[in-house]
Amino acid sequence: MKTAVRGDVLTFRGNPFWEAERDSLVFQRDALVVMENGRIAAWGLADELLPSLPPDARIEHYPDHLILPGFIDCHVHYPQTEMMAAFGEQLLDWLNHYTFVTEQGFGDADHAREVARVFLGEQLRNGVTTGCVFGTVHAASVDALFEEASRHDLRILAGKVCMDRNAPAALLDTPLTAYEESRALIERWHGKGRAEYVITPRFAPTSSHGQLEMLGALAAEFPDIAIQSHISENLDEIAWVRQLFPSCRDYAGVYQRYGLLRPRAIYGHGVHLSDAELEMLHDSGASLAHCPTSNFFLGSGSLNLRRCVEAEKPVKLGLGTDLGAGTSFSMLQTMNAAYMASQTHGKPLTAAQAFYLATRGGAEALGIADKVGGIEAGMEADLAVLDLRSTPLLDFRMRHVRDLSEALFVQMMLGDDRAVAATYAAGKRVYRKSGRSV
Ligand code: GUN
Ligand code: ZN
Repeated sequence: MKTAVRGDVLTFRGNPFWEAERDSLVFQRDALVVMENGRIAAWGLADELLPSLPPDARIEHYPDHLILPGFIDCHVHYPQTEMMAAFGEQLLDWLNHYTFVTEQGFGDADHAREVARVFLGEQLRNGVTTGCVFGTVHAASVDALFEEASRHDLRILAGKVCMDRNAPAALLDTPLTAYEESRALIERWHGKGRAEYVITPRFAPTSSHGQLEMLGALAAEFPDIAIQSHISENLDEIAWVRQLFPSCRDYAGVYQRYGLLRPRAIYGHGVHLSDAELEMLHDSGASLAHCPTSNFFLGSGSLNLRRCVEAEKPVKLGLGTDLGAGTSFSMLQTMNAAYMASQTHGKPLTAAQAFYLATRGGAEALGIADKVGGIEAGMEADLAVLDLRSTPLLDFRMRHVRDLSEALFVQMMLGDDRAVAATYAAGKRVYRKSGRSV
């Protein structure tokens, strides 16, 4: 059964960091996106495609709205939903005082399910159709998330956090249980529907040499599986890594030693990486997730994203909310913060570049760009529909917009969850906003 959405469409056929906007960005007024069996069957000018639709095809019409590929959140901790906006600390104290306390609650599977439901509901309200998500150390936290995600047929990547030192005893696994439980989760979930497992050492300081070795062995057994962790977020963290791994040249060198730098390995932050480390990431094919609201919130610093994306040896980059250190589920607000971060390094991020990072760029960084992140025939039908006049202020401001670039920039600076009119996953509407506040 074919269905379709009609409205203005924005997608990317190239990378606006490397190519002119007119070559990389695709914008089509009054387009039709035709969906069948969870995929995009065709898309193009509505007037041209309408005659080819069967008479009973359901068409949802969004006049004056923008239809985009669903947003991709490349780095987020679902268990931290309940501790967003915890006051006043930098990374290591924040982990000890808030995060490690909250995460202990996920030994209770009912609790995990409840938080997973709230988390995914918020993602859909924000047009996020794919997340690369950290669970807690408890395998059941990942079961709960995958189960809830499967109810909406979401493409989701997630993994059990592995850590066997420098955290409360209730949150520690061992090298062997980390390996065995991660492997069992791979067997239970990887490739089931749209679920993908991600091997997830929390970060170097909470894994022993033995555990990193076991996770490297697991990664070698499953060479196509994604890996996620953190790198070079905070200066005290970096000094600690130097103490804990004195024989490694630097932070990236730790992950490299254990075979954890490779294509589809994505590391959160990378704020303070050296040129040599960025080169190591490039050479290995690993990616970074830029998490600007989190970096501002924890006082970590701000990533100079052009050092990654525009380098001679570029590093693939996506955007992450990094909740609960991140302050918003909204990818528009995350783009806003990415713009602020770019201003501290002199050359502002354009709207096209920001929307690219939140869609196709994120998909490239996660190695899923053949499936999601773009509007193209054959891709999975994950869409976000933006109401460009979602608040009284935006209604007024949009009357004074001169071109598409300005319209997109205004949305990412002033828009938030209220801008998301509807979200589609695998061709089905999974969220619709119940009314406009204008
Ligand atoms: N580094 C290790 N764990 C975490 C976490 O949960 N959040 C952030 N922002 N950084 C981390
Ligand atoms: Zn994180």
